[in-house]
Formats: sequence, structure tokens, C-alpha cells
Amino acid sequence: MITDKGAIHGEWAGKYAFFLAATGSAVGLGNLWKFPYVAGSSGGGSFILIYLLCLFLIGLPLMMAEIMLGRMGRQSPVNTLRRLAKVHGLSGSWKWLGVTGMLIAGLILSYYSVIGGWAFAYTVRAASGLFTGQTMDGVVSLFSRFASDPEHLLAWHTLFMLATVMVVSRGVKNGLELAVKWLMPALGIILIVLVVYAVKNADVNNAFAFLFHPDFSKITPDVVLTAMGHAFFTLSLGMGAIMVYGSYIGQRSSICGLSIAIILTDTLVAILAGLAIFPLVFSFQLEGVMIQSDPGLLFRIFPYVFGQMPAGTLMGTLFFILLSIAALTSAISLLEPAVAWLVETRGMTRPRASAWAGFSVWFLGLGSMLAFTGLTLRDMLTAVSVWLGHYDPGLENRFYDLSFFAMIDYLTAKFLLPVSGILIAIFSGWLLKAEVTRQELSLPDWAYHCWRTLVRYVAPTAIFIVLLNATGALMWLGRLINH
Ligand code: PFF
Repeated sequence: MITDKGAIHGEWAGKYAFFLAATGSAVGLGNLWKFPYVAGSSGGGSFILIYLLCLFLIGLPLMMAEIMLGRMGRQSPVNTLRRLAKVHGLSGSWKWLGVTGMLIAGLILSYYSVIGGWAFAYTVRAASGLFTGQTMDGVVSLFSRFASDPEHLLAWHTLFMLATVMVVSRGVKNGLELAVKWLMPALGIILIVLVVYAVKNADVNNAFAFLFHPDFSKITPDVVLTAMGHAFFTLSLGMGAIMVYGSYIGQRSSICGLSIAIILTDTLVAILAGLAIFPLVFSFQLEGVMIQSDPGLLFRIFPYVFGQMPAGTLMGTLFFILLSIAALTSAISLLEPAVAWLVETRGMTRPRASAWAGFSVWFLGLGSMLAFTGLTLRDMLTAVSVWLGHYDPGLENRFYDLSFFAMIDYLTAKFLLPVSGILIAIFSGWLLKAEVTRQELSLPDWAYHCWRTLVRYVAPTAIFIVLLNATGALMWLGRLINH
């Protein structure tokens, strides 16, 4: 057995530290922006019920599986899976699941860092009082100028990546743990201040009705699929982030209890974010503009709201600090799998490994950064081919109209993440022997059977359906059946 071996990268001081770190990874833009608008526009209370079901039927078993695998392997996801496969007589190819997870994390971090950089920049802009008294057109054009200015974007993207690298390079105890110990309570306090402010000063009745009024007529198969997909993304599953954090927890912590606490906190933050944001949306009659799925809107609309209201400079600054913290605590969990792997296999020191991983991701992020300035894949490939001396790269296909960011987002969120989720479920539910997982999870019999049924049947089936839907295959099948 390898379970009694300590993690080579160190361990969390206790289960509370792990809880903060995993919650920090889970709480991100997905909670602060996506959940409130999807909940509000997809049936309010009834959507929240379905979302909770998805969290507990798909998210919980998979989160438990990831933490369990991490704790059993005690290394980066690649080496954890390689080691577990070896010990349990499975194919060595399972290490590729860890490699895929690490790559997905790097790809996601490359654009997360650009958006994190926006949050940093907007914190400074809000604090300087730049938004005070701005008109809607004024803030929209401020953002357009900001997003099309590569030099500024580059500086903020670099700063955000440096902050991430700095935290990760200091190690599990002095870096990750220290950061989340301060940042997560700060995030909680800022969120509560914003909720209290919104409830006292803005249109809370309409916001409440919008967020919580159950409207079952809005529950369509599409809404259920959205809830499933979001449950998966919001918990940071499928990319090794939770697995690598799991490899640093002690043997005695209850994986099930911790997972439930993380999921409940993640949901609470999402609901509080709705209560902080939507009263303002209704007070400023922004419903038409706000109910859209673009995180960039946070940067286009909120400066206007904060510019108009009393104490707006303070509240605006707090709001963008909140976004920055949420982005940073997620970013460190995205860099950690690669850093742990470099330390283990290349024998690098942590600072060196963090610098290399951070630099690679930063470089990739330049593609997304340019995409936000309006360049398509065609523009970028044409520029490269002109540079190389070929003037006609022949890029007629419509695919090249996509931006680099859209391509990465599509590839990771819609395809790679669900596939990796299904494989994690298969590995822990079908391939590891029941007595092994039973001992590792140490649950009462009934709870263990629930977990095993969910991870073997329910989670993979549900994710597979989400995958078919996201890639358009479900629609295609539907048409085929109707013909
Ligand atoms: N869970 C984050 C969110 O809800 O925004 C997104 C994310 C962060 C996914 C970190 C994965 C991850 F490792």
C-alpha cells in the first residue's frame, strides 16, 4: 500500500487549510457571475433545486474520487495515476489522464490570467475614482480602449501571473496555505459587506423574485444540461486541481465531510454573489443588458453602477478586490499540478518549477490576450505566415473566424473536461477494487454504496450526455431520430 506515505511536497496544516484551499479553487468567476445570471434567467428557485441535485449527484462523487485518488497517490496527478495504476495492476497509460488534466489546467489558466489581470487593473481604476459620474457610454468606451490596448493588457496579465507564481513557488505551507488563510476570509467579508450594502440601498425585492421565485415552466432539458455542466466547472473538477490539493491532506480527514462542506460553501458564495449583484442591476434598470453570459460585462457595466451610487468608489474597489481574490485563489490551484509534476520528474526546485510553468502559461496567454483585442485565429496565423515568408496560408475555413480564446474555451470546457471527468469516474468506480476505495473513504456501508453507484453509473452517464449536448451531437441525434 502507498497510502501511509507522506506527500513529498508537504501537507496542509489540517483539514481547515485544505477546505479553504479547495474552496478557493472552486469559488471563481463561475460563482460571481455565471451562477447568478443562469439561476435568474432559468427558473430561479426551481433551477437552484436542480443545480443542487446536480452538485450532489455528479459533483460530490467526483470530488470525493479526485480527493481520494490524490490522497492515495500523494503526488502530482500524473504520477499519482501512474503509481496507482502500477500498484493496482492497471495499464500505465492511465498517467495520460493526469497529463491531460495538467494540460487542461494550463490552457484554462492561460486565459484566466488575462481576466485576472483585468480584475487587478479595475481595482486600481476603481480606487482612483475613475468611474465616478461616468455615463454608460463612458464606461463601455473605457473598457473597449482598455481591452484593445495590448501593452496595458500585457502588463496586467504579467502581473497576475507573477502573483500566481509567487504564491505557488513558496510551497504548500508557506505559499498556498498562507495565501488562502488570508484571502478566503477577506473574500467572505467583502462579499458580506457588498450584500448588506445592496440589500440596504438597492432593489432587493425584484432581485429576490428574480433569483428565487420558482418557475418550473422554464426548466427545459437544455437548462438541466446547463446546470450539470456548470456544477462540474464550478467545483474545479476534471483537471487535477482538486486531486493535487487532495494529495496534501492528512490520512484522518473525512473526504466525504470535506467535499460536502466545499460544495455547500461554493453554493453559498454563488447565492450571496447573486444577492450582491442583482439588487444593483434592478435599481439601475439594467436587466436587459445584464442577463447575458459574458464575464466581460462585469467590467463594462459595474463601473457605471459604482460610478453612480453613494460610496461607489469604496464599494467598487471592494468589488474588484473580490474578483481579484477569487481569480487568484483559483489560478494557484491551476498552476499547482504542473509545478508538482516538474518538481517530481525534472528534479527542479519549487521556485524554478513555478517560474517555468508560469512562463509557459503566460506565453500561451498572449494568444487569448490578443484575442480580446479583436484578433481572430486567421489574423494571427496570417501574421505568423507572413513573418515566416509565406504570404497565402489559405485559411478559408470558417473555423479560423474563431478567436484563440474561443478555441481554448471550447476545447477545454466542452470537450476535454467532460472526457477527463468520465475517465476519473471509470478509474475510481470501475477499475479500483471496492475494498481499496472502501478502506480509503471509510464511510458507513450505505454511504459507500451510494458513492459507488453514483460514481459508476450516474456521474459518467450524466457527463456523457452533457458532452454530447456541448459538441452538438445530441441535436444531431435528435434530428436523426425525428427523420
Ligand atoms: N471553479 C472556478 C469557477 O467557478 O470559476 C473555475 C476553475 C478554477 C476551474 C480552477 C478549475 C480550476 F482548477
